[in-house]
Order: sequence, then C-alpha cells, then structure tokens
Amino acid sequence: MFVKHLSLQNFRNYSKADFNFSQSTTLIVGPNTSGKSNLIEAVFFLASGRSFRTDKDDQLVKLNKGIARIKAKAEDKNLEVMIVKEGEEGQLRSFKKYLVNGVNKRKADFVGNFFAVLFAPNDLEIIIGSPGRRRDFLDNILVQTDREYRLAMGFYEKGLRIRNALLHKAKETGRRSEKEFTYWDNLLIVQGQKITGKREELIRYLNDSKKDILNFEIFYDKSIVSKDRLAQYRNAEVASGVTLVGPHRDDLLINLKEDQDIKYFGSRGQQRLAVLQLKILELNYIEKATQNKPTLLLDDIFSELDEDHIKLVLDMIGDQQTIITTTHEEFIPKKLLNMTKVIKLTNGRRS
Ligand SMILES: Nc1ncnc2c1ncn2[C@@H]1O[C@H](COP(=O)(O)OP(=O)(O)O)[C@@H](O)[C@H]1O
Ligand SMILES: [Mg+2]
Repeated sequence: MFVKHLSLQNFRNYSKADFNFSQSTTLIVGPNTSGKSNLIEAVFFLASGRSFRTDKDDQLVKLNKGIARIKAKAEDKNLEVMIVKEGEEGQLRSFKKYLVNGVNKRKADFVGNFFAVLFAPNDLEIIIGSPGRRRDFLDNILVQTDREYRLAMGFYEKGLRIRNALLHKAKETGRRSEKEFTYWDNLLIVQGQKITGKREELIRYLNDSKKDILNFEIFYDKSIVSKDRLAQYRNAEVASGVTLVGPHRDDLLINLKEDQDIKYFGSRGQQRLAVLQLKILELNYIEKATQNKPTLLLDDIFSELDEDHIKLVLDMIGDQQTIITTTHEEFIPKKLLNMTKVIKLTNGRRS
C-alpha cells in the first residue's frame, strides 16, 4: 500500500499543491516553515484520521479560508478528508468529512485504507513526555489496525465528553443526579474495558518481540474503569469535575533492567534508542496485523539526531514507501540520494 498522489487545498500553509510520490523513497527539501511537517501531517491524517500535532481541527484550515481538503490516491483508492471551519474568530467550530472513492464514510471506515508510521525528533516525548504521548503511541497503532478499537475509541471519547460535562455541572451545583449518569457510566465501562483489553494485547506483543536496538520491558499502568472504581471515586469526581478513572488516564512505564524507568534512569542516548526501537516494533506490528507495509514518514530527523542515530533510522528504510523531509539535501547520504525522488518546497509551493 502506498500513496501515489496527494493534493492539498487550503490545508495549513498550502493554497493548492499537488505531489507525486515515489513508490520507494521521496525526499522533500525545503527551508524552515516551508510546509514540510504540514505535508507529513496531511499524509499521516490519511492513515489515522487525525492530526498528530493538534486536536483543534480548525487550525488545519488555511487562515481566512473555510474548507481544507486532503485528497490522495492510495493504490486504487481515492481518499479524501474535508475539514470545514465554521463560526467567528474566537469561537470557531469545525467538522470533518471522510470519503473513500467519493462516498461518505464514518471515520472508523475511512481509517484502515492506508497505513503510516511517523518518526520525528520530538517522538522523544514518548519516553520523556506526559502520559498522553505514550497513549498516542498505542493509539496510532491500534487505530490503524483494529476497526473495533476505532469504534470503541469513538464511543468512549464521546461518552467521556458528555460525562465530564455532567460532572462539571455537578461540581457547580454541588448536586449529582444519579439517573443522568447511569447510561454514560455503563458506556464508559463497556467501551473502556474493550480499549484496555486491546492495549494489553498490544503491550504483550511489544514485550514478546525481539529488540535488537535496545531491550526494555513495558509495564502497562492501566486505569481500569468499572462500577466499583467509579463508586470509589464518586466524591473525588464531583470535586474535580472530571472523570478520574478509565483508559484516558492510562500510562506506560518503559523499563530497563531492574525496573529502571528509561524516563528517569536512561541516558538521552538510551531514550532515543528506545523511541527508535518502539518505532521499529510499530512498523512490524502494523505490517503483521494488516498484511500491508505502512508508509514510513521521517520528518526532519537530520536536524537533531547525531550521525550514529541517523544511520540507525535510515536502516529502517526497507522496501516500504518512505517519505523524508529535510532542510538540506546534503544531509542525505549519497547512496540513498541516488535512489530517491526529490521534491523542493518553498513556502507552501513546489519549486
Ligand atoms: N492554518 C494555517 N494557515 C496558514 N499557515 C499556517 C497554518 N498552520 C500553519 N501555518 C504555517 O505553516 C508554517 C509551518 O509549516 P511547517 O510544515 O511546520 O514547516 P517546516 O517546513 O519547518 O516543517 C508556518 O509558517 C505556519 O505559520
Ligand atoms: Mg518541520
């Protein structure tokens, strides 16, 4: 599976731009702020149905425009995402439409038509950042490989928003009306347990896999959502106005030997190796689960990583499609450059 053609309209800093990618390696060269990461963001959107940089979709639409489009030809399928921005500055809303071959689809049926693994220097956050970054790591894999997971996440996130709004109201009024909660408590329990179970399976796979770059063991620090746990946190939830248990509070501990968390005990070098190892496992898992080689997206890895590390990252390039961005063509090893299609960017335009 690979993306042949990409067309962007009013997406980020692009007014209108078309790209043809090689089935093997394509190099995007452009100065800072020319739109390299925006382009990678668009390609990743096709695989995951969302941005890896923001939850606020209106930011994806070009300033002063109403509708952004990401259109792509991936193998024999035409994929399209429309992001529609509505309302006034200050209270913008947005919604998305997903289309496959011109037909409207639910997000859960749009995702799963194209696969990608993203690697960027700030992926170090998976190790040293907040728990949300580690949950994103799991979600980026499971969302692409498992339709039931996509559906469960969709229901869970909606249920959580509504339940949090009820808790917010309870906090304000000092009164919690039980019958308002019954339905949403059940929804969170049913969908939350599905999510936990699937994350558990994935973590087992990651732990059982061979790790050539750096060995570690992942401990799933899960926040189970059940009737008992909700009862236990009942007062604390009203006091804080948010839901305190469930997979939205999960974390991972990524441990070196003797349970030393790499976050606290690892050297920066080990932390970077751990990210790379996780990314290799991600590629392998998605390929195994979908019978498709995901497109590898390497965004600006040459600016921050040292030479040895870059070499290890470039070793990830196999026979899958790869899209690499860089500020300077000279950063790319000659051997790779010979086999690479080069696209030059200047401020949202191909040059
Ligand atoms: N919604 C938007 N409308 C217009 N420009 C945007 C929007 N979002 C981001 N940009 C612009 O995109 C540029 C950054 O693009 P990016 O892809 O991150 O650059 P780089 O090539 O350095 O990776 C910035 O100049 C930013 O102002
Ligand atoms: Mg960038």
